[in-house]
Amino acid sequence: MGKSSTIFPYCLVISLFVLVSSSSGTDTIQQLQNISDGQTLVSAGGIFVLGFFSPGDSGKRYLGIWFAVSNTTVVWVANRDKPLNGSSGILRIDTSGNLVLTGNPPNTIFWSTGQTSSVGATAQLLDSGNFVLREGSSLTAGDFLWQSFDHPTDTMLAGMKIGPDYRTGRDRNLTAWRNATDPSPGRFTYKLDPRGMGQPFVLDNTTVIYRSGPWNGLRFSGTPTTKSYTMFNFTVVHNLEETYYQYGITQEPTLARLVTDHSGVARRLLWDSKKAGWQELWSSDLDRCSNYSLCGPNGVCNSDASVACNCLRGFRVKHQDEWNIRNWSGGCVRNTSLNCTDGDGFRLETGMRLPDTVNSTVDMGMNLDECRETCRKNCSCVAYASANISGGESGCITWIGDLIDIRTFGEVEDGQNIYIRLAKADLEEILGNPSKKKHWAIIAVTVASALVLLSSVLWGYCIWRKRNQKAEAIIEHGSRFQSINNGLTDENNDLPLFDLDTIALATNKFADANKIGKGGFGYVYKGKFLDGREVAVKRLSSHSEEGIEEFTTEVRLIAKLQHRSLVRLLGCCIEGGERLLVYEYMPNSSLDVFIFGDVQKRRLLDWEKRLDIILGVARGLLYLHQDSRLRVIHRDLKAANILLDEAMNPKISDFGTARIFGRNQMEDNTIKIVGTIGYMSPEYIINGNFSEKSDIFSFGVLVLEIISGRKNQWVSQKNTHMQLLANAWRLCRDNQCDKLLDDTLRPPTKFSDVLRYMKVGLLCVQESPDDRPTMQEVVLMLANRTSVLPQAEKPGFFKPTSLAAAAQWFSDGYNSLSSANVITLTNVEGR
Ligand SMILES: *[C@@H]1O[C@H](CO)[C@@H](O)[C@H](O)[C@H]1NC(C)=O
Ligand SMILES: *[C@@H]1O[C@H](CO)[C@@H](O)[C@H](O)[C@H]1NC(C)=O
Ligand SMILES: *[C@@H]1O[C@H](CO)[C@@H](O)[C@H](O)[C@H]1NC(C)=O
Ligand SMILES: *[C@@H]1O[C@H](CO)[C@@H](O)[C@H](O)[C@H]1NC(C)=O
Ligand SMILES: *[C@@H]1O[C@H](CO)[C@@H](O)[C@H](O)[C@H]1NC(C)=O
Ligand SMILES: *[C@@H]1O[C@H](CO)[C@@H](O)[C@H](O)[C@H]1NC(C)=O
Ligand SMILES: *[C@@H]1O[C@H](CO)[C@@H](O)[C@H](O)[C@H]1NC(C)=O
Ligand SMILES: *[C@@H]1O[C@H](CO)[C@@H](O)[C@H](O)[C@H]1NC(C)=O
Ligand SMILES: *[C@@H]1O[C@H](CO)[C@@H](O)[C@H](O)[C@H]1NC(C)=O
Ligand SMILES: *[C@@H]1O[C@H](CO)[C@@H](O)[C@H](O)[C@H]1NC(C)=O
Ligand SMILES: *[C@@H]1O[C@H](CO)[C@@H](O)[C@H](O)[C@H]1NC(C)=O
Ligand SMILES: *[C@@H]1O[C@H](CO)[C@@H](O)[C@H](O)[C@H]1NC(C)=O
Repeated sequence: MGKSSTIFPYCLVISLFVLVSSSSGTDTIQQLQNISDGQTLVSAGGIFVLGFFSPGDSGKRYLGIWFAVSNTTVVWVANRDKPLNGSSGILRIDTSGNLVLTGNPPNTIFWSTGQTSSVGATAQLLDSGNFVLREGSSLTAGDFLWQSFDHPTDTMLAGMKIGPDYRTGRDRNLTAWRNATDPSPGRFTYKLDPRGMGQPFVLDNTTVIYRSGPWNGLRFSGTPTTKSYTMFNFTVVHNLEETYYQYGITQEPTLARLVTDHSGVARRLLWDSKKAGWQELWSSDLDRCSNYSLCGPNGVCNSDASVACNCLRGFRVKHQDEWNIRNWSGGCVRNTSLNCTDGDGFRLETGMRLPDTVNSTVDMGMNLDECRETCRKNCSCVAYASANISGGESGCITWIGDLIDIRTFGEVEDGQNIYIRLAKADLEEILGNPSKKKHWAIIAVTVASALVLLSSVLWGYCIWRKRNQKAEAIIEHGSRFQSINNGLTDENNDLPLFDLDTIALATNKFADANKIGKGGFGYVYKGKFLDGREVAVKRLSSHSEEGIEEFTTEVRLIAKLQHRSLVRLLGCCIEGGERLLVYEYMPNSSLDVFIFGDVQKRRLLDWEKRLDIILGVARGLLYLHQDSRLRVIHRDLKAANILLDEAMNPKISDFGTARIFGRNQMEDNTIKIVGTIGYMSPEYIINGNFSEKSDIFSFGVLVLEIISGRKNQWVSQKNTHMQLLANAWRLCRDNQCDKLLDDTLRPPTKFSDVLRYMKVGLLCVQESPDDRPTMQEVVLMLANRTSVLPQAEKPGFFKPTSLAAAAQWFSDGYNSLSSANVITLTNVEGR
């Protein structure tokens, strides 16, 4: 919207008016001057015009203000309920300084400001669209005697205030026209209700038909698209003199308006100079959840769901028969009524438009904890939330009585957090059974001693490792050459061998454009055979000896493994200096891209899909651990190693670090630690012990990552620890598992399933390997809705101090030992 393109039409309009108007495009009326029908005032920048008009072909004349670019877009009408008879109208400032509109019969006053001034007055049409009256003849005098912005009709312009003025007792609201050709006040009003934080309503006569959520310091909770308006800024001001809502335009020149039309719909519109028309940015009838209280008391509206209405969790439908025929007005009632004295709690709901605040109390001085306490102490308080979310959460809104007109958003960031009070029984119903009581003192002592032990073990190990690094490096070298020599001949006769030329052709000679990733020991390329089959080719770096062992392991292992949750190896190629593995191609890359990606990526995996993926990985792992001909420990299970096929089915990949276990072997001890920080179990890191249970630990981390959308980060900086595990465990212990959910997704419809998966995840990351379930138990617990889950013990790396020690060890180890190839850390931070 360039300046030149919008100014040009103004000039045109102005020059047209110059021809017909004796007031020559002036923007002022001095005392005793007048304009009559046919004459106009034009604001200095040529943006607004004031004059006489007839809407439609009614023949009735009104004095109004319209946009110069669109003379049918009337933004203000003076004599809206007293039309002039013919073109007899004259607007002038009379001897008492009053601005009056007279017409036929002569000297009949059709409209006036009702303001007088002993020193006379001057009226001016400003570029904001405000028509103002000032004392005297100066155009710079500060205060206005009167201004049209205080008397809006149906349109709100930038800079105008909507809301009650306590000094004059007037409500500044937008009242719609009666119909398209009759500007007299109609049924519909758009107003700011000052109660609570201030919320705009659309009323039909006296009945609320639409409500924006309350002001939250940034925007009105529940007017989703306002966030995307970078060209507007919004404020709501509360003080003793007035409460008002105002918007400003940050990107001039922009022409915009908010209008309540005669059908009761409020719309925000923007002038599109290219199309010479108004573009609608928002309207109050966007979707079915726009109808005020559609779902009744304590109901939640979701316009994306097949059935719009649902009860808040912990509530049940009041009149099921009516509800079934989609009359939701009866709403919902508590499943268990509140017992103020005994064990009520709060449950967080995210992504909500906050309920109606007309009966709410606001205290801007409290923080959320104080808010919670205030609500808890007041037996009639049913919910609380932050009043202001600009710059963190502050302030406190509390609700009493029923919660009205709640909705939930697909775009979670458009909504807000609210904490709903529920009876103990309902909280437990939602969150699963409460934990058995623990003796915290005993645990604390145990933890402390375990800690001391752990740190000293770590320290000792660290020193020992450093001393032995050189010797180990040599041993590793020797064994690697051996394995590559005997690895591919005898054992792999059933694996197809591809020739190098075929693969080079398929991957366009390993072109950079075909690179799709970097695996543990080299690049992965996308290839396409002549028959159209797409494959992924893993290429071992030819000039590096790193990974030869991994290559061999992978070929030996995966050729023998067949499961739908494992990526399929189609063949390999050993020719010249090249060592290549050919896999089925996974079009959707790896899981980490989705669960840690941007909002769009994350939403591609909804809750149902996420649970499917977890179950798929569990089944794949069960196959590796128990059902396959071999018994395989993967050792590097992580989100980046879970590939997704076109239907988003998970396939475990990257077996370069896997080990085969003897059937009766319970635990192996390795000098060479391989894996990825964040997924490795304590006993593996500390003692090099690996077993199925270390894979299960990694699986548990993966589950929690998939559900939370957060990485279990563990970087070797101060104060970092395995936050995800500790957080998850603490939250679930406090019956707040739900706080862990990836909140960019819509809340899950089957929360109980997600909860069960989360609890299984926590069981898998318990500190002691013996406490962790086997993969068979995991699959049973995941698949069986009615399984009773034990309470999880503390996860590994629970205490930051032990973690700091371990992290220190890691950073030392990683820096000094990685070149010697003793520790293989694949992708510390993921891809
Ligand atoms: C309006 O102003 C014109 C001169 O500008 C004057 O001739 C005419 O009498 C005025 N009419 C009224 C009703 O004041
Ligand atoms: C609006 O503009 C059109 C064409 O430019 C003109 O015919 C019409 O009279 C104008 N209406 C008003 C109220 O000025
Ligand atoms: C409108 O003016 C006409 C003559 O100009 C007159 O006959 C009629 O009574 C007037 N109507 C009103 C409502 O003043
Ligand atoms: C809108 O404002 C007008 C003028 O202050 C007032 O008379 C009217 O009652 C208000 N409407 C509502 C619904 O508050
Ligand atoms: C608008 O309302 C007026 C009465 O208020 C009526 O005479 C007119 O026909 C209506 N116009 C339309 C287009 O409905
Ligand atoms: C608005 O409500 C009042 C009182 O409820 C009623 O008297 C009036 O007729 C209503 N007006 C309309 C236009 O429905
Ligand atoms: C909006 O921004 C403009 C320009 O930055 C500023 O002049 C105006 O006061 C702001 N208005 C509001 C309501 O914040
Ligand atoms: C919403 O309200 C409008 C007007 O009040 C009505 O026509 C429409 O049927 C309502 N929609 C629903 C889903 O109740
Ligand atoms: C309500 O309570 C009953 C038992 O009292 C329980 O079966 C039901 O699942 C509960 N519903 C909700 C939504 O909590
Ligand atoms: C809808 O249900 C409520 C009770 O929940 C009842 O009072 C009302 O009459 C019903 N409305 C319709 C249109 O059936
Ligand atoms: C609340 O719970 C306590 C203890 O369970 C019980 O004694 C009391 O009667 C309950 N009060 C109400 C109002 O249900
Ligand atoms: C507010 O309180 C009044 C009186 O208790 C009640 O009639 C009304 O429904 C409440 N409104 C809301 C939105 O909670």
